[in-house]
Amino acid sequence: MRVLAFQGSPRPGGNTDLLLRAFLEGIEEAGGEAEKIDLYRLRVEPCLECGKCDHTGECIIPDDMRDIYPKLDQAQVIVVASPIFFYNVTSRTQALIERSQACWIRKYVLKKPHPRAGERQGIFLSLGATKGRRLFEGVQRVVRYFFDALDVNYQGGLFYRGIEEKGAIRSHPSALKEAFSLGRAVGEGLSPENWPLTRDPCP
Ligand SMILES: Cc1cc2nc3c(=O)[nH]c(=O)nc-3n(C[C@H](O)[C@H](O)[C@H](O)COP(=O)(O)O)c2cc1C
Repeated sequence: MRVLAFQGSPRPGGNTDLLLRAFLEGIEEAGGEAEKIDLYRLRVEPCLECGKCDHTGECIIPDDMRDIYPKLDQAQVIVVASPIFFYNVTSRTQALIERSQACWIRKYVLKKPHPRAGERQGIFLSLGATKGRRLFEGVQRVVRYFFDALDVNYQGGLFYRGIEEKGAIRSHPSALKEAFSLGRAVGEGLSPENWPLTRDPCP
């Protein structure tokens, strides 16, 4: 099980980072293989809408996405972890998402679906300070369509409200345990129907 996980918070050791680490510990305990990418340690520019990928399906921006594209192609499970910033994912996570435009072009314009389309799974881990019922509604749609561009099935994820100060996730009664259990289920190779996560509520 090859898992690629994006840590999309600018705060190292913050809540998203801790949640993702618990998930990755679960993977490791199950003997799975995972790679974590800290987006704020890399240079990932937003899409410039230059149109170059329209004909090739390849992005020409010379930044760290050059290393990330092949990893996105090879991963069996892709995890996006981001806190909520203004009801969205963080800007660096959004930059990653925008750059999947090259993959969208490959799939929908050049009609070259991923060779393992339908066999790859996506998970979203997120948290925010407020407690509104609709806190994760918009971002889930964003992440769902990121996964769609990659020919990855969005399965849903783990979502936590009322988490604000650095490290506050540690005081949550179940979050880190749930992330660990989810990681273990993924690492054990359980089928996605048996993953302990909140299913995608988007239509
Ligand atoms: C720029 C910024 C925007 C934020 N916007 C929201 C928001 O719209 N809704 C919310 O519930 N929390 C918001 N928050 C709070 C963070 O989601 C919260 O503090 C979270 O725990 C940070 O996670 P981290 O430690 O992984 O970075 C915002 C925080 C910052 C710094």
